[in-house]
Amino acid sequence: MGKGFTVWFTGLSGSGKTAISKFVEKEILKQGREVEVLDGDVVRTHISKGLGFSKEDRDAHISRLGWLASRFSHYGVPVITAAISPYKDIRNNCRQMITSAGGIMVEVYCECDLDTLVKRDVKGLYKKAIAGEIKNFTGVSDPYEAPDNPEVVCYTAKETVEESAQKVIDKLYELGCLKKKGEADEPYSEEEKKEIDKRLEALGYL
Ligand SMILES: Nc1ncnc2c1ncn2[C@@H]1O[C@H](COP(=O)(O)OP(=O)(O)OP(=O)(O)O)[C@@H](O)[C@H]1O
Ligand SMILES: [Mg+2]
Repeated sequence: MGKGFTVWFTGLSGSGKTAISKFVEKEILKQGREVEVLDGDVVRTHISKGLGFSKEDRDAHISRLGWLASRFSHYGVPVITAAISPYKDIRNNCRQMITSAGGIMVEVYCECDLDTLVKRDVKGLYKKAIAGEIKNFTGVSDPYEAPDNPEVVCYTAKETVEESAQKVIDKLYELGCLKKKGEADEPYSEEEKKEIDKRLEALGYL
């Protein structure tokens, strides 16, 4: 089994977290690994049910995602989280939890300007937020703190979804989170080395 890692997407609503995560999920599955996808919208329908959008509630929601990701990391299972996760300190706490559990956190910042997001308005929420119908809307009436040193930045106003996803996938290979087929996960064990030596000897190579 490989090392546990978490692809942690962060960015404003409509910036592309869910869209990119689907491509990344496919690539992880293609490599024969399991992957748990924790999409913010979905998690809010069960373990974060009842939580709203105050700073306190957002922090509780994100900490739950971080804690779950750390448990999966402990067992070597890759995780993708796709939630706005607007606050830097909580994201950093999550990184701490994941790292302490033996995982790697790969933070992916989906960067996109507000004009493009308003034009996209995937869920029709920006219009309502701008009209003052939704309070605490990240990027309009609530803060968003961009990461200082994310492992990947996707400029989703300029890139295609495929291009953005490829940047994330390339980083996963670069960091050794994923391995190309045929690359050994672990070096040979002592037993296996002895067995190989025996066979090489029998073949007259040693
Ligand atoms: N490079 C890109 N990466 C991701 N999405 C893109 C890109 N270019 C265009 N898009 C489009 O932007 C939209 C992003 O919507 P998506 O639901 O993925 O956002 P989100 O970040 O998950 O939002 P929310 O926080 O509300 O769930 C999609 O319609 C997608 O096709
Ligand atoms: Mg989404």
